[in-house]
Amino acid sequence: MTGELVVRPERTGDPVAEVVRAAFADEGEHVAALWTELAASDLLRGSLVAEAGGEVVGHVGLSHAWVDARRELVEVWVLSPLSVVPERQGTGVGSRLLAAALDAARAGVPLLFLEGDPGYYGARGFERADRHGFAPATTRTPAPAFQVVRFDTHEEWMTGRLVYPDIWWRYDAAGLRDPRLAEIEELLR
Ligand SMILES: CC(C)(COP(=O)(O)OP(=O)(O)OC[C@H]1O[C@@H](n2cnc3c(N)ncnc32)[C@H](O)[C@@H]1OP(=O)(O)O)[C@@H](O)C(=O)NCCC(=O)NCCS
Repeated sequence: MTGELVVRPERTGDPVAEVVRAAFADEGEHVAALWTELAASDLLRGSLVAEAGGEVVGHVGLSHAWVDARRELVEVWVLSPLSVVPERQGTGVGSRLLAAALDAARAGVPLLFLEGDPGYYGARGFERADRHGFAPATTRTPAPAFQVVRFDTHEEWMTGRLVYPDIWWRYDAAGLRDPRLAEIEELLR
């Protein structure tokens, strides 16, 4: 798997579900099923792949959510899932996908959210969302994991709770549950 890394929009036939399954290991089936359903819905906002030497080695998905601001609902995007095949992890593929996803989101919405490792995403443009007044969709999201990018089109009034569409709840994909939640909270103490 050598060759120049190219990030491009997903095309028909790209093995995106396989890449997601491989990246997320034990949770792979669940995450891939969620993404497959999101991607087939009117919630899809972007799907980018990283290709090297003719092989798809990574993927990032973007989908619709809202911020429930006092004035009105604000259309925002959620970045999830971000997947790199195990053989290519730690070689910059995820960072390239993230940069491309931020460029796409910047052109589309004032805010981009995700739940994830602040050590990874904090070095790549994201900030803690609670520090800017946003509330996560569930109290089961540890505060440092709830992250946002505010683009130039963001205005002060666009703040409030992140609201996920129904599909996130059907897949129980918002926040964490015990025992993982308790483990992460223990690590953060
Ligand atoms: C997390 C993930 C997307 C990062 O992409 P990547 O291409 O491996 O990462 P990059 O090469 O761009 O960046 C390297 C950084 O990621 C870290 N990293 C590498 N492999 C990692 C892994 N398996 N899990 C978490 N972080 C990892 C490295 O420590 C390095 O950190 P640093 O920049 O602080 O030194 C990728 O490892 C992955 O697909 N993991 C499994 C699925 C997952 O957890 N997705 C994110 C869910 S929020």
